Amino acid sequence: NKVYIGIDIGGTKTAISSGNSVGRILGKKAFPTDRDLKQALKNIFTEVETFISQNGKENIAAMGISCGGPLDSDKGIIQSPPNLPGWDDVHIIEMLKDEFSLPVFIENDANACALAEWYYGAGRGCKNMIFLTFGTGLGAGLILDGRLYRGANGLAGEVGHIRMTEGGPLGYGKKGSLEGWCSGGGISEAYFDRYGERISGGEVCKRAEKGDAMALAIIEESALMLGKGLALFIDIINPERIVIGSIFARSESLFRSRVEKAIKEEALPLAAGVCKVLPAELGESLGDTAAICAAVNGLSAK
Ligand code: BGC
Ligand code: NA
Repeated sequence: NKVYIGIDIGGTKTAISSGNSVGRILGKKAFPTDRDLKQALKNIFTEVETFISQNGKENIAAMGISCGGPLDSDKGIIQSPPNLPGWDDVHIIEMLKDEFSLPVFIENDANACALAEWYYGAGRGCKNMIFLTFGTGLGAGLILDGRLYRGANGLAGEVGHIRMTEGGPLGYGKKGSLEGWCSGGGISEAYFDRYGERISGGEVCKRAEKGDAMALAIIEESALMLGKGLALFIDIINPERIVIGSIFARSESLFRSRVEKAIKEEALPLAAGVCKVLPAELGESLGDTAAICAAVNGLSAK
């Protein structure tokens, strides 16, 4: 009945939470991620301090950080993520250990979400699954043969960097990348490029849901690229399930048939046949549960 502290660092907001080892969130505090790195870190430290004193340090088993990559979870370094400008080589594990002397683990956000959905959500009972974020950025977490796969230096699953087309919306510093096509910012940019109006990716989805033909055309393209991307992953990994968060989970019906069509056209039928594509199940608590899972998994792997 020890408590775990989760730190979910996103491009726009940061959330500190406490939870138990079976994924129950006990407390939470969210605040905007300050644009200034020093201030952003200061805010995190202040809130973590509060959580530690509220729970009593002796009751805390470990802290877990979930954060967009690239990052090196072995070394505990955040390495210039595209969606966290200014976070260049931040030795965050060392800093937190020095300050609080508790075990701290960091996991790429997509990896942490993969653990959360695998333990408690749409990936339960799988041996091979892929989790895809589809929000501010696009990243993947790979559960292979019943364990989280990180690759040679923690960059496995940085699939947002894959170039799908020569031109196209910008994501991960590349035009036409999978993150360009399949992220909130990328959908917004694609809409602006075609129609000259700047609206958020969420707003494009809302309009598409109401049947707006202009918005639907943009979503169609995003869904097609998502489907093509999934077909690649299916051919390489042969997963039982692909679980997708944020935009896909909220607007599944907009994407579903287009994605399925692309998979059918592109992936090896025998591999596609065993793979279910599902929306994430944990909804609003996914990010917090993911950060807690980074702590639980980190401690159990030690
Ligand atoms: C990052 C990934 C991350 C994804 C979702 C990408 O821009 O590079 O590491 O998983 O966004 O936040
Ligand atoms: Na990853």
